[in-house]
Order: sequence, then C-alpha cells, then structure tokens
Amino acid sequence: MQGDMELLFISALLLLILFVSFFLHLVFLYGSTAAHHNLPPGKLGFPIVGETLEFLSMGCRGTPEKFIEERTAKYSTEVFKTYLLGETTAVLCGAAGNKFLFSNGNKLVTSWWPRNVEKIFPTSLQTSTKEESMKMRKLLPGFLKPEALQKYVGVMDSIAKKHFEDGWDLKSEVVVFPLAKRYTFMVACRLFMSIEDPNHDPNHVAKFADHFHDLVAGVISLPINLPGTPLNKAIKAAETIRKELLAIVKQRKIDLAENKVSSMHDILSHMLTTTDENGKYMTELDVADKILGLLIGGHDTASAAITFIVKYLTELPHVYNQVLKEQIEIATGKKRGELLRWDDLQKMKYSWNVASEVMRLAPPLQGNFREAIVDFQYAGFSIPNGWKLYWSANSTHKNSEYFPDPEKFDPSRFEGNGPMPYSYVPFGGGPRMCPGKEYARLEILVFMHNLVRRFKWEKVLPKENIIVDPMPMPAKGLPIRLHPHHN
Ligand code: HEM
Repeated sequence: MQGDMELLFISALLLLILFVSFFLHLVFLYGSTAAHHNLPPGKLGFPIVGETLEFLSMGCRGTPEKFIEERTAKYSTEVFKTYLLGETTAVLCGAAGNKFLFSNGNKLVTSWWPRNVEKIFPTSLQTSTKEESMKMRKLLPGFLKPEALQKYVGVMDSIAKKHFEDGWDLKSEVVVFPLAKRYTFMVACRLFMSIEDPNHDPNHVAKFADHFHDLVAGVISLPINLPGTPLNKAIKAAETIRKELLAIVKQRKIDLAENKVSSMHDILSHMLTTTDENGKYMTELDVADKILGLLIGGHDTASAAITFIVKYLTELPHVYNQVLKEQIEIATGKKRGELLRWDDLQKMKYSWNVASEVMRLAPPLQGNFREAIVDFQYAGFSIPNGWKLYWSANSTHKNSEYFPDPEKFDPSRFEGNGPMPYSYVPFGGGPRMCPGKEYARLEILVFMHNLVRRFKWEKVLPKENIIVDPMPMPAKGLPIRLHPHHN
C-alpha cells in the first residue's frame, strides 16, 4: 500500500516537473521572440522538440533537402525561422545565405555545435566550443596543408592496396559502407597516430571503430539523455573510444620521454609537445578528445563519399568507363609496383569531377550551424543575438538556379570555372571550412584508383533505399557483386 502511494507521489511529481518545464519553455520561447519585431517568417513547432522531428525524419526518408524546400516554398526563399535541436534557428537559404554566414565569421556570427556536443565531449566544457575549434585549427595546418600531405600519398596507396588484398580480392560479394569505413579508419590511424594496422594492433584500436556511428548520430539528435536515446548512446560510445585513445596517448607520452619517437612523428606527438600561448601543454584527455574530433571529422564523412561514388559508378557505366580510362592512363605511366605520387593525383581530373558531383548529390554533411553574436538584419528581417543559424549544403546543391536539371549526374558541371561561388559547399566555407578537405580528396582518389583498376561490379539490391542519419548511406550498406578484371 505504502509502495503504491510512493509510486503515485513520484508520478505526480514527474508530471508536475514536466508541466512546469513545458510552461517555462513556452514562456521563454515565445516571450523572447515576441520581444523582437520583424523576425523571419516560419514556425517554431511544438514546445521543446520544435521542428526537430520533421527535420530528422526527412533525412530518414532519404530526402533531407525537403525540410528546407517545403519551407522556402511556403515562407521565403531567403530565410525562415524554426526550432531545431533545442534552439531557435534561422535557416539562411541558397548561395546568398552561405556567402553571408561564411564571410561574417567572428563579425556577426561565430561557430556553434549543437548542445549535445558538450555532453558527448565533456572537455569542451572547460572552454567554449569556439575556443576548442580555434585550438584545433592552430594545431592542424602543419599536418593537413597540401604541402604536408604530398608525402602521404604513397602511404595512402600502400594502405589502399593492403585494404583491397584483405577485404575485397578473392571475394565474390562485399558490403561497401563498412569496408569504406575500415579503409578511412586505417588511413587515419596511420597518419594521425602511426598505428600500422588497427585490425592487428595490440591496443585493439579496431574495437572502437564500430562506435563512431552512434557517436555521430547522437550529435544531430534531440538533446534528451535517457537510456536508449541517440544522445545517451553517443555519450557511451564517446566514453569507450576515449578510454582506448587515452591508453594510446599515455603510451606515446612515455615513448616521447624515452626519445623513442620525435615530436614531429605524427599529429599525436605534435599535440603532446605543443604549448598554447601561455606555455601550457594540453592535458592527456584534451589530446584524446582532439584526436577523437579528427577521427570523427574524417571517418564517416569520407566513407559516405566513397560509398556513394561506388553506387553512382554502378548506375552509370559510361562514367565508370571514363574513370577507368583515366586511371589506366595514370597506371601505365608508372613502373610496375610503384606507388602513387602527388603529381599522379593532379592528373585525376575527371575522377575528381565525378567525386565532386557525387558530393553535390549526396553531401556527407547536410549543413552546419553558426550563432549570432550581435543583433543584425538579413534579407530585411531581424536576427536576434544568440539565435542559431543554419546553412544547408543539400538544398543549395539541388537548387536548379545553380545546377540546371539538378537530379542529373553530370561531372562536367565542375569543368572550367565550375559552379557559381557559394553554391557548392560540401566542405562548408570561410574561416570554418573543413580543414580535412585536401586530405579527403587524396584518400578518395587513391581509393578510386585502386578500385576501378581491380573490378567492375553490380548491385546486389537494385532498389536499395537511401537514409540520411545524419550522413547519407544505403540502408543495407550497399552490397555489390564483384567482377575482377582479367589483366
Ligand atoms: C568527404 C569528406 C569530408 C567532408 C564532406 C567534410 C565536411 C565538413 C564540413 C561541412 C565541415 C563544417 C564546415 C563549416 O561549418 O563551415 C567540416 C568540419 C571539420 N572537418 Fe571535415 N569533411 C570531410 C573530411 C574531413 C577529414 C578527412 C578531416 C580530418 C582529417 C576533417 C576534419 C574536420 C574538422 C576537424 C572540422 C571542424 C572544424 C572547426 O570546428 O572549425 N574533415 N567538415
């Protein structure tokens, strides 16, 4: 009896808390927007969730761009307001919106990651995510700028060859997405941490590779941390990965102290031996989180791009034939067994146009956020300080104003001067543009070179659905039947 009363009391209390937070949210949300005049058109949706579920469900149906297309048709082609991931957000549309956000970084807007990021990466709480991002950017140029990457082309090629020998050769069928992830992960482990083969590494790095999807999915999800929610899974995934990474960081500190490796050995050593402007070293946890940030940045993004390249090459035999022709020409200009070099990649113009067109139709990242740091006007509407702003790659890429016949696969769009400025943005733009763009270009081209010279292939599931959660991927990972070339 007493137990029943307690249960009743707890339920009533929970209901009361829910009601009060619901009410406060309404007051805060509508009060704060009512204080400003001439806000962009649009609706904020339901309290707490806003329009997040519609935003995410369009992705699950494989058409994330529809969320924006429907609202631009209804409200304005330039800007509309909504409520996403716990924040009042203005979506700035098209090339003009991208240009505005990319060129006003740190003047009107600053970087902002969804609140979930701070829950998933607790070290970001020590400082703002903006400072974290600046810290990261300072550390990277030495390793990710084109000149530094030149020497990695051969390493990437040898990793690709080993990857195909282990995972593709002698198989009649493979599933592309997990294999693409394994390849990009091997490249990252080698270049960031000098781990030769994560699958046979004594630190069992491969153990945490599988947790990345949960981690990324949790960033773009409702900010609710309850057992089973995407955010909850992401926090657990980050803990697992961080534990493994911390062990690697600690071992490297020992190796550095014993002069077994140099400070320029790889990005991990560089992070451990570089001080900030106050002469302070980063903590081990900080370094582990920075490496984790890089692994996330480069893992699912590049593997989604590779998977969609394989998909489009299956569907478009004339494009496949042109890519193969270009890659055979490059291979015949080399000695037997000689690895790819930087100048070989510069010749892969058609192949890169194909990869670019793939990332137009299926951008790995759908868009990103910024935060207003002052009140300002955009397209005749007021944007209040503190609002979040969103730019979208997917809807800009499918806009017929910039890309006539937008659903048509046409790599020639990237010939000559290419697309109109700010209309093609798979890597973002401005001071926040993806620092891994060149690295991604190299690893994608190296993969294409090794793939097309080995095989032709066909889909096992001709009508496989596409889902975007939050990266685009074929629902079953793109199983294909391989037909090796006989040469
Ligand atoms: C096809 C592959 C890739 C795509 C499509 C991609 C796309 C993007 C986009 C759209 C952004 C946000 C830019 C903005 O908000 O303006 C970004 C940020 C970032 N990317 Fe990439 N990326 C890719 C590969 C990589 C790789 C390989 C790395 C690491 C080697 C990487 C590291 C990062 C990092 C660290 C950031 C955050 C930068 C900051 O906070 O300022 N990315 N990426």
